[in-house]
Amino acid sequence: MLDKLIEKIGYQTINELVGVDIGTASIKVCVLEKTKKGLKLSRLAKKTYTENLLSDGHIIDSDLVAHELKNLLIENKIKTKYAACALSSYCVITKKVSMPLLDEKASERSVKVSSNESLVTTKSSLPLFEDEKIIEAEVENIIPFPLKEINYSYQMMGLGEENENTVNVIIVAAKKEIVDGFVNTFQAAGLNLVILDVDIFALTNIVEQIDNPENSSIVVVDIGASVTNMAIIKGENIGFTREILLGGTYLTNQIEKSLKVSFEDAELKKIKGDDDVLYLFEDFIFNIASEINKTINFYISTNPSEMLGKIYLSGGTSLLHGLKEKIGEYTNIEVEYLNPFVMLSGKNPQFFNEDLSQFDIYEDYKEFNAVALQLSSRILELE
Ligand SMILES: Nc1ncnc2c1ncn2[C@@H]1O[C@H](COP(=O)(O)OP(=O)(O)OP(=O)(O)O)[C@@H](O)[C@H]1O
Ligand SMILES: [Mg+2]
Repeated sequence: MLDKLIEKIGYQTINELVGVDIGTASIKVCVLEKTKKGLKLSRLAKKTYTENLLSDGHIIDSDLVAHELKNLLIENKIKTKYAACALSSYCVITKKVSMPLLDEKASERSVKVSSNESLVTTKSSLPLFEDEKIIEAEVENIIPFPLKEINYSYQMMGLGEENENTVNVIIVAAKKEIVDGFVNTFQAAGLNLVILDVDIFALTNIVEQIDNPENSSIVVVDIGASVTNMAIIKGENIGFTREILLGGTYLTNQIEKSLKVSFEDAELKKIKGDDDVLYLFEDFIFNIASEINKTINFYISTNPSEMLGKIYLSGGTSLLHGLKEKIGEYTNIEVEYLNPFVMLSGKNPQFFNEDLSQFDIYEDYKEFNAVALQLSSRILELE
């Protein structure tokens, strides 16, 4: 239905797209403005909440989120009516399959299609197979819910390594009720949701654009309020994704209980790294760093020839005092914060090539707004 709607609107009329990242504890927005010289950062904002906005990836209170989103747009003078959003990878099922390639022309197209998955755009639903029923049958096979209960999308990830008549396809599916919850919330906020992606894929797409080594894989870790999402990518291929059900709210709750303070005070103490709470960081950091390390070890054991070049961190909890260093220590891999602004200041002609120092004023947004920023850049797909 949304595809039809997009066809009716016509992509040409969309000049601005607001990227919205609804997390468990925050709403983040970004608008990249289209100029003759390329996309340029125009708006960046975030608002945090002490109550959870999401539960298992569902929007808990659609009216509240719609109201908050609407206000955020008004406060930041964001006028566009079109939005791109991302589901939490925690609530999507991602499967990589190898399928017979029946349509020869599809192999040409596969090179051009980006490796983003999108549950709501028409772009990723190009008829890559002669018969769409083939992909439908594959989805039915591998996704443990009836077709009528899910929204799915698929993306070619390149031709099969061993057999050129096969193609690697990544299938992404989410329960319809979750997707409908997002669509309805955006509608209530006065926005047309034209792209719905998955948060970790927005981050891997940034990494693909700014750091794409030929010989090594890259690990992307988004440590949020309720969940830690991981992906391991090589070039445009997403080799592996995993969700660890641990995020910053857990530590805030620990501080709250141990010191008998309010949630708000516990958050402040955590963010400041107060001496009287540092002892509580240890277990939390140990758990996250060792889970990341386990995931990497599993990946290496199943792909023994792979080299891991770097770990990129994103998400508010990645800023936790001592966490980055511990991840480096455990994994023995270089760890860096993902700076989404590099995407805007790189050599990509689609972006207004700005000096990286221009973004120093947005330092506080770096770990929070990467997903929203990438989503806003998807305006380029709608041309
Ligand atoms: N400087 C900081 N140090 C430690 N933690 C921080 C810091 N700043 C924010 N946080 C924590 O980051 C979390 C919010 O991060 P983020 O906005 O990435 O999460 P989210 O997207 O809302 O959640 P999720 O992705 O899990 O649904 C909160 O738990 C907050 O306490
Ligand atoms: Mg998040």
